[in-house]
Formats: sequence, structure tokens, C-alpha cells
Amino acid sequence: MAFLDKHKALERNVTLLAIFAFIVVAIGGLVQITPLFWLENTIEDVEGMRPYTPLELTGRDIYIREGCYVCHSQMIRTMRDEVERYGHYSLAAESKYDHPFQWGSKRTGPDLARVGWRGYSDEWHVDHLRNPQSVVPVSVMPKYGFLEDRLIDGKYIQDLMKTHRLVGVPYTDEMIENAAADFAAQADPDSDFDGLVARYPKTQVRNFDGAAGISEMDALIAYLQMLGTLVDFSTFTPVANR
Ligand code: HEC
Repeated sequence: MAFLDKHKALERNVTLLAIFAFIVVAIGGLVQITPLFWLENTIEDVEGMRPYTPLELTGRDIYIREGCYVCHSQMIRTMRDEVERYGHYSLAAESKYDHPFQWGSKRTGPDLARVGWRGYSDEWHVDHLRNPQSVVPVSVMPKYGFLEDRLIDGKYIQDLMKTHRLVGVPYTDEMIENAAADFAAQADPDSDFDGLVARYPKTQVRNFDGAAGISEMDALIAYLQMLGTLVDFSTFTPVANR
């Protein structure tokens, strides 16, 4: 057939084959990439998402420093077994304020994207972080009790938030001005935390580790307890279904 003869020319000439292969792949690529330039936002906005509070952001930094992501992912995939075990699949918007994101590719331990929503008490987290084997005897997770002894203040939190603002997290001037005060207020239920909660809805205010002073343990548990709690999935409908 004439058509196949022409194709034979392509198959026998490696330069010609490369040129045509490039053209075909380029068309495929353009079809995927060009629409992105006309979309206002590639991430669907979702009600409830807000930037991390100063204490949560500090906890997140400790999470990264300690390499928790080496064993824990933070992305629930759309498969049924994942959704039944971990909760609603993760939305892109839920990690839009994450720099760097914590999706992860390795699960030695469970996914933590919604660990706050699972309802563990602060005491459980303290016990578990001190000695994971005390609550899950077969656990291979290391002990992190030393975090309780490392007291922190909000000395660098303003700079950290400014850096996050630089890369696109919408921290307002008011949030940045109040960074150190908000940092302290979240770990102290006797403080005046109305401003904090107004700036960051759904903030949980508690003495997370139960001990005096603000420790790295407080910050880490504040972070863990908010994971997956911002979006209300009883009212959420994906754009495609609206
Ligand atoms: C060496 C791997 C490893 C590292 C590193 C690790 N974990 Fe784990 N983690 C596990 C395993 C395995 C489990 C499941 C058994 C258990 O609950 O201890 C787990 C469980 C958990 C759970 C309970 C989750 C649930 O849904 O039951 C939390 C919370 C947790 N880890 C937090 C952390 C934090 C925070 C860090 C960093 C400070 C961390 N892990 C570091 C392996 C790890």
C-alpha cells in the first residue's frame, strides 16, 4: 500500500523518524500545557483553607527538620482503600500553602494528611512521640521525647512568615505584625486568643504537651492536630459536580 511505503521511509531514516516523533510529541505536549496559560488558577479554591498559624508553621518546620516525611506521606489518593483508611482524598488546595509540600513517596508509617481529623488526643500524641512502642508495640518509629525539653520562643517566626509570603502564602500585614503574640497565644488557653482565632479560623488553642513553657513538642502537636481539619467535607462539592 502506498501509505505504508511512505511510512517505510520514516522507519528507515533515523533523522526523519526523530523529526516526526518530535512533532507528534510536541503536539501532545501543547495540548496539555497551553490551556494552563489561559486558566486563572489551576488549583480549585476550597472553602476553609487558610495559611498556617505561627505555632503550626513552626511545628511544620520541626516535622521537616526531623525527617518525618521519610516515613510518612501527606497525600490520600483517590483509591477506595485509601479513602476508607485515611478519609476523603486530598485536594490540591489542601497543600497550596505548603512550601515545600509534604506529599511524600514513602509510607513506612501511615499517611498523615488527615491525622488531626482522626481524633487522637494530645496526650496520645505526647505518649506516642515519647515512645511509639508504648502505644503501638510493633512500631518502628523512633522516639522524639527530646522535643519536650527544647523550649522555643517566637523569635524567628516573623521572618519565617515573611519568607513564606515571598513565595506566595497570603499572610497579611496584620498576621505578620502579630506573629510572636499569636505564636504564644495558641499554646496558652488563658491568653487572649480572640485575635488569633479571628485571623486563623478553626485554630485550636491548648497547652498541647501539658507542660509549662512552649516546647517543640507543643508546636509539632499543634501542627499534627490541625492536619486535615480545615476543609469541611460534609459540605464540600468538587467544581465538576456543582
Ligand atoms: C522510621 C520511620 C518513621 C519516622 C522517621 C517517623 N515515623 Fe511516625 N510512624 C511510623 C510507623 C511505622 C507508624 C505506625 C505505628 C505507630 O503508630 O507508631 C507511625 C505512626 C505515626 C503516627 C500515628 C498515625 C496514625 O494515623 O495512627 C503519627 C501521628 C506519627 N507517626 C507522627 C510522626 C512524626 C511527627 C514524625 C517525626 C517527628 C514521625 N512520625 C517519624 C514510622 C515513622
